[in-house]
Amino acid sequence: MTGRFITVEGIEGVGKSTNLQWLAQRLRARGIDVLLTREPGGTPLAEQLREVLLHAEERVPPVAELLLMFAARAVHLENQIRPALAAGRWVLCDRFTDATRAYQGGGRGEAHDRIEQLADWVHGDLAPALTVLLDAPVEVALARTRGRGSDDRFERESIAFFGRVREAYLGIAAREPARVVTVDATAPLAEVQHRLEQVLDHFIEFS
Ligand code: TMP
Repeated sequence: MTGRFITVEGIEGVGKSTNLQWLAQRLRARGIDVLLTREPGGTPLAEQLREVLLHAEERVPPVAELLLMFAARAVHLENQIRPALAAGRWVLCDRFTDATRAYQGGGRGEAHDRIEQLADWVHGDLAPALTVLLDAPVEVALARTRGRGSDDRFERESIAFFGRVREAYLGIAAREPARVVTVDATAPLAEVQHRLEQVLDHFIEFS
């Protein structure tokens, strides 16, 4: 039996890391074998590409950024995600191609068709069965990232950039309501996690 593929998305500051750890723990508590991983990254080579993507010291043209995201994804899929799913493990991934649609598409303005062609090429037959979109207004989310001390190429982007990223995410959620569940990340953590538990219950029961 193959495992299930779940992704978590959202702009910086919506509480992705905390809630991913929590989701992994809730799935494990149900006896499910979970691989918790992330993009860009998830294997040694893909993590090297992540380092380039987040901390390059020269200008990264948007087309190069797009191709490097998919290069890292191809490595991650082949060396980590597909083998785990084939072994029956569930894969819980911090971001996947929706992030490319939102950041490189919405944020940078790369053409939708081009992104979909690459998605089809790199993982045509594989899509997440469930995507949790943690959503919050840009000002609220970015205020939470202040003082974290990290400052990568994306975190240095403007409010307008993150506004476009958020709109792109909400557009995906509106177009694919069966796959993408939007969760209000401005709610208190206990409420967010209550909602996530309901989402998991529904997913496990009906998938
Ligand atoms: P993280 O901060 O969630 O670990 O993600 C690293 C950054 O990479 C984040 O700012 C979003 C960005 N990103 C893209 O721009 N496109 C992608 O396809 C992915 C997976 C991440």
